[in-house]
Amino acid sequence: MAEKKEMKIAEVKGRPMLHWIGKQPLETVKSFPSQLVEKFNIEEAPQVPTFESLKNNWTNLLLHGDNREVLSTLLVNGFQNKVNFVYIDPPFNTGLAYVRKVKLRGTNKKLEGEEMSFDEQIMYENSFLESSFLQFMKDVLVLLSNMLNKDTGLIAVRIDYNYSHYIKVILDEVFSKENFINEITIGRSREAAGSPSKLEVTTESIYLYSKSNDYKLNPIFAKRPISEIAWTGFTMGGDRNPPERLFFNKKLLPSSGQHFTLKQEKCDKLIKEHFLRLKCKDCGCLYYYGNSENEFHKQSKKKENRFKYYDITSNTEFKVITDLDKCLNCNTDNFDVEYLGNDDVQINNNWLDIPSYATTTGYPTENSEELLNRIIRLCAKPGDLILDCFNGSGTTAAVAQKLKMKWIACDINKSSIQTTSNRLQSIIKSQNKIIEKENSKLALEEKEVYYNSFVHYKINDYDLQIQHNELKELVYEHIGIKRMPTDSFFDGTLGTELVKIIPFNHPLSLLDLQLVKTELEKRKDETRNIVLVSLGMEVKVKTAIDDYNKLRPVNKIRTIELRTDKKYGSFFVHKPAQAEVEITKTKDKGKVILKDFISPTIIQRLNIESKLFQAQIKDFRSQIDVVLIDTDYNGEVFNICISDVPEKKKDFVKGEYEFAIKNKDSKIAVKIIDMLGEEVLIIE
Ligand SMILES: C[S@@+](CC[C@H](N)C(=O)[O-])C[C@H]1O[C@@H](n2cnc3c(N)ncnc32)[C@H](O)[C@@H]1O
Repeated sequence: MAEKKEMKIAEVKGRPMLHWIGKQPLETVKSFPSQLVEKFNIEEAPQVPTFESLKNNWTNLLLHGDNREVLSTLLVNGFQNKVNFVYIDPPFNTGLAYVRKVKLRGTNKKLEGEEMSFDEQIMYENSFLESSFLQFMKDVLVLLSNMLNKDTGLIAVRIDYNYSHYIKVILDEVFSKENFINEITIGRSREAAGSPSKLEVTTESIYLYSKSNDYKLNPIFAKRPISEIAWTGFTMGGDRNPPERLFFNKKLLPSSGQHFTLKQEKCDKLIKEHFLRLKCKDCGCLYYYGNSENEFHKQSKKKENRFKYYDITSNTEFKVITDLDKCLNCNTDNFDVEYLGNDDVQINNNWLDIPSYATTTGYPTENSEELLNRIIRLCAKPGDLILDCFNGSGTTAAVAQKLKMKWIACDINKSSIQTTSNRLQSIIKSQNKIIEKENSKLALEEKEVYYNSFVHYKINDYDLQIQHNELKELVYEHIGIKRMPTDSFFDGTLGTELVKIIPFNHPLSLLDLQLVKTELEKRKDETRNIVLVSLGMEVKVKTAIDDYNKLRPVNKIRTIELRTDKKYGSFFVHKPAQAEVEITKTKDKGKVILKDFISPTIIQRLNIESKLFQAQIKDFRSQIDVVLIDTDYNGEVFNICISDVPEKKKDFVKGEYEFAIKNKDSKIAVKIIDMLGEEVLIIE
């Protein structure tokens, strides 16, 4: 466990400043306890992720925790100024709840995971107040600014219209206005916010800032959209000698006072590549270089060549030739030379040509790899350290890994960590195959450097705090509460009543009751009755509620105590998933066979009887997402030695595994993760 240490950090740099109620500076940070949970493709990992312990032997970091605590811990542990590029895609504070969409493997059976409101994951108890969101974002940005390399560091922040104007002012404050580089416009496909009184919103933004003006952006090229491709003239102003050029062995002269743009050799090359063509000024017939029309058609059908032939349709009059005298169509001698520029152009700030969201993992709000690939290549190079502390499905880590960069990914949500772990295991495994094949042919100094391992730590054991959130989600569903994400105090409605959910870490107390009364005093026009949902209740509260109700014609209070409530109490019975696994060992070999797996939660979510489930779901493996095996489990850290993460959703896990073991005393641990993210650990 890390020693608790504190350190001072650099606060904000510039102006202007945005103000909100309760705005506070963040001046010192401290380190929180780290717990090493899982490791992949690495023998030894440090107990605490310090920069000192990783700098000479890098392993990527997958950190489960609240990003403010994770970043504070990293800063105290030597990561100040060490990150080259940060990409973040924070929750947009829209109040929307997202649902992880899941499909059973090899079937068409869809089910929904837990609803997750990202906003609530930041503020566990209340809905996300504007001032809390702004303070949260400023704290995170100040911490990130301290993580970045002080000279060359760059940060990209994705945000939408709900908060973009505020976030930009906070970025100006934290990084200074002079360090603003660009606003990049990206597409938005998830949800259309159109209505008769409002235009549909089709874009989001990425703000790009630097730490100083010593940064460097790499040139990035993209394909020019077909709509922007056009054949142009091939002459420029001014005379040159000789003025003539040969096209299809025909001598042409530019009009007076003009010259042909390129030399003869270049013209010959461009004619052959179809970047130059002739056009009959009288009938419009086009002339392309070539020996056969068939070959021309073959070339024009290739995807990468489509831009060159964009204006050739079935009605276009054209000829494929090597020599030309007069127009083969109208017998005149009156030609224009046409030139087509390359279809690669250096990108500008309009990125609507690529998708910005993707749906490969089922994790809501997954960003597309195309987007991350472009922004990371723009801002970083192989070997750089990339950080995303709103990791989600792990797109930043996945792309950084593919681009041979180091990465740190952090998220508060367990399913984000699971999804990312699976995604990165697959990528690293396929990279390892390439390395084996290619690097064996290369000399040592030519070998590509990959950072092919990662370690998963829990920072400040987050599960406890998350439980409240998960439980709250279940309560909404179980009782049938309709959420009110925009209300700053009440959580929802139940029929005509207003609902307040009391934090589950304590029974309903007199103080909770007082807070409700104070809130109602502020809402003079509120006539609805109130339901307080809690796990239990302090004894004095019941009498206090009775006394209060006697005096109130409206806003009468009743309670639902989940532990004892007859109607709603059943909700506490969670039947865990169960697995039957056969583990056998000989002197030097281990064998694991999955015999059966059943998840009562999956069956419940599918809303079918368990007998019907067995009839409909032929193979129990359709419930299983991933199987991980530690062939020498030390009882604490799960070392992923075998990972079975089928790439395609229709494929099942193998279910049978044979492997070498050190000796007969090695402990074998098998972790089965089902499609809803529930884990079953079997230790032999
Ligand atoms: C919009 S999603 C990011 C999606 C991601 N860019 C991707 O490609 O999948 C935001 C993420 O931030 C996480 N998050 C919200 N509050 C957080 C906090 N305080 N600390 C860490 N992660 C947080 C949520 O759990 C969610 O996964």
